[in-house]
Amino acid sequence: MADRTTRSRRSCLAVPGSSQKMIDKARGLPADEVFLDLEDACAPLAKPDARRRVVEALNEGGWGTRTRVVRVNDWTTEWTYRDVVEVVEGAGANLDCLLLPKAQSAEQVAALDLLLTQVERAAGHEVGRIGIEAQIENALGLVNVNAIATASPRVEALVFGPADFMASINMKTLVVGEQPPGYDVGDAYHHILMQILMAARAHGKQAIDGPYLQIRDVDGFRRVAGRSAALGFDGKWVLHPGQIEASNEVYSPRQEDYDHAENILDAYEHHTSAAGGARGAAMLGDEMIDEASRKMALVISGKGRAAGM
Ligand code: GLV
Ligand code: MG
Repeated sequence: MADRTTRSRRSCLAVPGSSQKMIDKARGLPADEVFLDLEDACAPLAKPDARRRVVEALNEGGWGTRTRVVRVNDWTTEWTYRDVVEVVEGAGANLDCLLLPKAQSAEQVAALDLLLTQVERAAGHEVGRIGIEAQIENALGLVNVNAIATASPRVEALVFGPADFMASINMKTLVVGEQPPGYDVGDAYHHILMQILMAARAHGKQAIDGPYLQIRDVDGFRRVAGRSAALGFDGKWVLHPGQIEASNEVYSPRQEDYDHAENILDAYEHHTSAAGGARGAAMLGDEMIDEASRKMALVISGKGRAAGM
């Protein structure tokens, strides 16, 4: 099982915690992460039953190398503490992260960290092992995204929640993931995505794009995913099995880029040792490469190796 620093999240599959059928199906799908949802995919009356189902599903196993995550309810509801206590007491040893929706402040993340620590200790689990993914879903969350990223060492990823975000800022559209009609001067999400990405990269966290709701339009998914992948995002939510392969592909390096990155690393290594360890510019065919090229190549190579290339 991958640890906090090496988890792959090219595709993060949303699975309602209330649906046994979808939980069973998820075990056989090639998503890097599966998150069992106790929040918006579960009606209020279905939540107690969903908590039991989620605990059972985690303990039954069969998740292979997938990152196992549970989305709890947000702190403004009356459900969060019970979600955390039941899931972590019942299945803390078989859980990698909790996903905190509508994260608005460092205090909310710190509160989850404290509660997690206490439940881990009481249940005899390793303290601090369970990570946190923080979902940025409203204006306050975005304004505080740096503080959220650094509120706990448990934070592994910042996740964009476009549906709630669009609602929270009164964006004039109902089509999640696509551009709002009337805004034809650029990408309406660019600023939001970049702010999340900068906070993630500044603090060594992953950045994950949110869902694309037109689940039958795989070309549309690829187009929208391609934008955040180009910026540097690590993965995206998937809501339907048909989006998984596309997401794994879009957030992996292209084969030619991976091969080129490996060539750069080899050539630079060769040049550095020939120069007695001194670093500087070198030539790879007609291309000049230097220390910055090596760093870019390391990113592509690391992502490719994680994707099994
Ligand atoms: C996901 O939770 C979203 O609001 O987009
Ligand atoms: Mg949401």
